[in-house]
Amino acid sequence: MRIFAFETYEEMSRHAAAVMAAEVRENPRTVLGLATGSTPLGMYAELGRMCRAGEISFRDVTTVNLDEYYGLTPDHEMSYRYFMEKNFFSLIDILPENTHLPDGTAPSPAMECQRYDRLIDSVGGIGMQLLGIGHDGHIGFNEPADQFVPGTNYVRLTEDTIRANARFFASEADVPRYALTTGIRAIMQAKKILMVVNGAAKAEILCRALFGPITPQVPASILLLHPNVTVCGEAPAMAMIREKFPTAIEK
Ligand code: PGA
Repeated sequence: MRIFAFETYEEMSRHAAAVMAAEVRENPRTVLGLATGSTPLGMYAELGRMCRAGEISFRDVTTVNLDEYYGLTPDHEMSYRYFMEKNFFSLIDILPENTHLPDGTAPSPAMECQRYDRLIDSVGGIGMQLLGIGHDGHIGFNEPADQFVPGTNYVRLTEDTIRANARFFASEADVPRYALTTGIRAIMQAKKILMVVNGAAKAEILCRALFGPITPQVPASILLLHPNVTVCGEAPAMAMIREKFPTAIEK
């Protein structure tokens, strides 16, 4: 695992964008596992700038997103499909047919989970998986639980996640209670993992995730078993790691 700390969010975003850009340049047909949330916004904007400047192309790239709220249509402003179109896909030259998210309107969540796992397999698995981390240690919407769930699954969001995501909605009551999320298997089978983290509120959970113990109560802790993880963190999110494990940080 490589852990990098940056003084500003902009620096962190630029570095994370450079890591993803290197993946796309090395493997123009790579499959990117993508994430929503506020953390990757700067990185997506930077990749958009690079694409407009002709420094990178996503023409042959395929993307599979981690998760989607259940019950929201793709054109709903709070759906993750809408988020991705607005904050990333519209900024780059990716082909719309190569972008995939779970379908939050599928009548049967169970069948949609199976379809999404087959889709990930059919594109050859994930080359680089981008992850944020939730305040409760979730990755995707894999919430703290008694066991890790391997496949794409239909989950009830925790109260913590509902509260955290309420900032994007008119009120907490409007946050969907259920979501579809890629499971731990597809994430762990990604060849490379890139995690982005900012904000002092993530400092403790990030430290618990990256230094163990490995437990489904901190879903991101499973990443300790992955052979190729890069973590890009803004300084406040790195505070506890800096204090407890200073030599683990490369920059
Ligand atoms: P955030 O979400 O980037 O909005 O903090 C991260 C996550 O919940 O995975």
